[in-house]
Amino acid sequence: MSQFKTLDDLGDISGKVALVRVDLNLPMRDGEVTDATRARAVAPTILELADAGAKVLLLTHFGRPEGQRNSTMSTSLIQRTIQDVLGREVMFISEVSGPVVEQSLAIMRPGDIGLLENTRFWPGEEANDADFARAIAAHGDFYVNDAFSAAHRAHASTEGLAHLLPAYAGRAMQAELEALDKALGHPQRPVAAVVGGAKVSTKMGVLEHLVGRVDHLIIGGGMANTFLAARGIAVGKSLCEHELTGDVAAIMEAADRSGCVVHLPYDVAVAREFAPNPPSLRVCNVHDVAADEMILDIGPQATEALADALKTCRTLVWNGPLGAFETPPFDTATVALARTAAALTREGSLVSVAGGGDTVAALNQAGVTGEFSYVSTAGGAFLEWMEGRELPGVAALRQAD
Ligand code: 3PG
Repeated sequence: MSQFKTLDDLGDISGKVALVRVDLNLPMRDGEVTDATRARAVAPTILELADAGAKVLLLTHFGRPEGQRNSTMSTSLIQRTIQDVLGREVMFISEVSGPVVEQSLAIMRPGDIGLLENTRFWPGEEANDADFARAIAAHGDFYVNDAFSAAHRAHASTEGLAHLLPAYAGRAMQAELEALDKALGHPQRPVAAVVGGAKVSTKMGVLEHLVGRVDHLIIGGGMANTFLAARGIAVGKSLCEHELTGDVAAIMEAADRSGCVVHLPYDVAVAREFAPNPPSLRVCNVHDVAADEMILDIGPQATEALADALKTCRTLVWNGPLGAFETPPFDTATVALARTAAALTREGSLVSVAGGGDTVAALNQAGVTGEFSYVSTAGGAFLEWMEGRELPGVAALRQAD
């Protein structure tokens, strides 16, 4: 992979202005931030730059205001959270360019931190407009991108700025790219991928890409039902995309050609109603699912077989739960396999990388998030990476001189 510059490549930055793209698109409920994970992820970069004497200007989008000012999506609403996380004062600046930014910089001292307004209040952001990017760049001496989770967007603050200023990957971006490279770029083999979640249709690109790259492809969640149905197995009332039979057959053929073993469950947990601990819950062979039953999780024998397969692997990349994990006991297989992966990682025999919103929630539920080699909080960007697509924000960093 062509390299990108990191903060280690910065010279003396004392008194210089750093334009730092972060992803502070934090989840909110009733005006309160409910999860500050993304703020914590970028804190090391911000503090490192501030401690080296730079004036740090933070750029982020927040929600989808579609090119207009919208007080419910002002970054002023997340100012307190980032202050708390950093343990430093952060000045809110109500613009991203122009005299207000100029005046703010004039009163900021080296080491001070400013939070610019939501970049998406201006249509030039999503249009990646050159004039808009130039107006922001005019305030900075260099650009740092620490927002992997927004790197699939070719926007002015995620892509355009990297062409206008000396550009560097922040610490979180650097860690993410290094972990992803270990997982799929230059992995130790054998490699296993777990791909779960509700629908094959949303992950077709992921499956097509992985099938030629990994040695074991473990299909879970509602997606497994579609694969089973494509093999002629009756899945009852299970969530299933019957219209994708042809696509699934093509993936199975591609897997055969490249020597990738596709793992489908041979026992499953089923119920007649989707509710916590339903009375109709039972475990059965996939061939014995009744017409009025739904498959809601992988069964214990299949889970054990998957654990055995993982024990032979050196690398694991995981996206999506194996069952309907939000509703007990249909988190059983996901939790069990996550714990196996965590134990193998602890022993040093497995590099384990996971990503995506549901996946992080499932690993939290299993209590093993901290034990994986790397857990990405990126949603769309992680999926696009799993599809083998080049992320514009990352490509721009690699091309920057
Ligand atoms: C995310 O929350 O996944 C990122 O911040 C990207 O947000 P977006 O999907 O609105 O571009």
